[in-house]
Amino acid sequence: MSDPASRHKRPRDRGDSAVAPSSASAPRSAGAASSCSAVAKSTSERHTDSLAHLAAAYAAVDGYALAREEKAAQRAAGVFRDGIQYGEVSAASFARCLEWVTPVAGEVFYDLGSGTGKAVLTAAALHPLAAAYGIEIQPRLHEAALAARRAFEAIEGASLRAGRVTLQCGDAFAEDAAWPETADLVFCTTTCFTPELRAALERGVARLRVGARLIVTTQPFESPRLTLLRREALPYAKGSLQFFAYEVGK
Ligand SMILES: C[S@@+](CC[C@H](N)C(=O)[O-])C[C@H]1O[C@@H](n2cnc3c(N)ncnc32)[C@H](O)[C@@H]1O
Repeated sequence: MSDPASRHKRPRDRGDSAVAPSSASAPRSAGAASSCSAVAKSTSERHTDSLAHLAAAYAAVDGYALAREEKAAQRAAGVFRDGIQYGEVSAASFARCLEWVTPVAGEVFYDLGSGTGKAVLTAAALHPLAAAYGIEIQPRLHEAALAARRAFEAIEGASLRAGRVTLQCGDAFAEDAAWPETADLVFCTTTCFTPELRAALERGVARLRVGARLIVTTQPFESPRLTLLRREALPYAKGSLQFFAYEVGK
């Protein structure tokens, strides 16, 4: 499902100058400010349009209701899973979070436990990623993500560049999961994680390449390899949540 990690080295690691930084975090010289303002404005206008299109695509999607249905169906079947709690990012908050980790053109994004896919579509719509993956274990949420993707693509048109988004139904922490070797940007809502899920994420993070970035929620993610870039409480679909952004070192 994924490309070799070597193909997704960040341009700055290769000394490559063909970098397309996010508009909010791109350093600009004072002299270049006026000539760049038209480009910056059109980028921010495109972001505003995409966020409006995302809101339209998700207008009919109630991830919380789907998660309740899923849980009821599982219980009826005698299945009780720990750590399967639903919550959903707001696209605007996630757009802000992504600026903290400065996505670079050609990078690969993963949401581990992607629910209805909002973070995946937000990342793919706002940044020129090579690929954006969402892995969700609950089938109803996965199906809703596929439907939201179709709705979003119909509204957004070619700018989403179909094919860059892959939504999978399965266990993000399976032994053969490819994200630890291929991800540049990893998002994981760790708010309700059990110790077992946290340990599985830690094992994956230990294999991430130097320079990859990780966003988690609610509790800090302690690891000698991680440097905190930023932490901040942001509005969530319901209430607000602490987001933590890290960069992976040696
Ligand atoms: C709190 S929700 C976050 C959804 C999405 N990331 C967002 O922020 O909009 C966490 C999701 O992780 C999913 N999940 C839990 N364990 C998982 C696993 N092992 N593999 C894939 N998905 C998992 C749950 O079903 C749930 O939809």
